[in-house]
Amino acid sequence: MITAEVRELFSLEGRTALITGAGRGIGKAIACGLAGAGADVVLAGRNGSVERTAELLTEQGYAASTVAWDLEHTDTLQQEARELAQERSIDILVNNAGIIERTPSVEVSQAQWRRVLSVNLDAAFVLSQAFGAAMIERGHGKVINVASLLAFQGGLRVASYSASKHGIMAVTQALSNEWAQHGVQVNAIAPGYIATANTEELREDSARSAEILARIPSARWGEPTDISGAAVFLASRASDYVTGHTLVVDGGWMAR
Ligand SMILES: NC(=O)c1ccc[n+]([C@@H]2O[C@H](COP(=O)([O-])OP(=O)(O)OC[C@H]3O[C@@H](n4cnc5c(N)ncnc54)[C@H](OP(=O)(O)O)[C@@H]3O)[C@@H](O)[C@H]2O)c1
Repeated sequence: MITAEVRELFSLEGRTALITGAGRGIGKAIACGLAGAGADVVLAGRNGSVERTAELLTEQGYAASTVAWDLEHTDTLQQEARELAQERSIDILVNNAGIIERTPSVEVSQAQWRRVLSVNLDAAFVLSQAFGAAMIERGHGKVINVASLLAFQGGLRVASYSASKHGIMAVTQALSNEWAQHGVQVNAIAPGYIATANTEELREDSARSAEILARIPSARWGEPTDISGAAVFLASRASDYVTGHTLVVDGGWMAR
């Protein structure tokens, strides 16, 4: 295959991507990666941080806009997402936003459990429904869910998070089974230990941090930009025959 054809395979020119939680951390790195590969990006978030990411991108000549959504409130989200799906042709949906609450399981409140499940799982399903329906009609589309190593493992004091991430992997497979025949690929990325606000508590605990680092064959914590390439791949034509898959990007953790 000649170089131009390979470049074309990974190009996102002419595509529009919606990324949730794109104001910081992994979501910001994914948004910048997709924009760099040629996509127009729509950044979904609930505060000023998405505006700052949009400014950063537009200053550099990329097409970026924002939508203000709080993913905890899935009843209003459903309507808002349906409206956006009518206005914009979203080719790539990245369900990235997520929260973690570290609490011993006996102390987890109903409100805490619901909050984590709402943001990490319910919202991703609601958005997939809204934008997936339009993708099916168009006969092409990409849904990328951000899972976790805790889609495979139970973790410590993170039952709600672990349940949500096992759930998102199951939804990835379930939607893929239904939508692949319509040209819509549904995949997930399972990041390893990445230096963001999500893992701040772990990194601040020197004993736990050393324990984690000792198990990572790449011998370093991941950076948000370590996830960008996997997202570009799963958003591009290069992955048209990859679906229902959860791609681990973890510096080798799972192989240990
Ligand atoms: N860091 C890791 O090691 C790691 C490992 C595996 C999986 N992940 C997953 O990667 C994804 C991104 O996390 P991160 O590490 O980048 O953490 P982060 O820096 O804490 O980012 C979380 C993002 O989710 C958004 N968010 C949270 N609650 C929201 C709500 N109610 N409505 C709308 N947006 C909301 C945040 O928006 P605001 O700016 O408005 O708060 C923020 O953009 C999550 O799904 C996380 O579970 C992370």
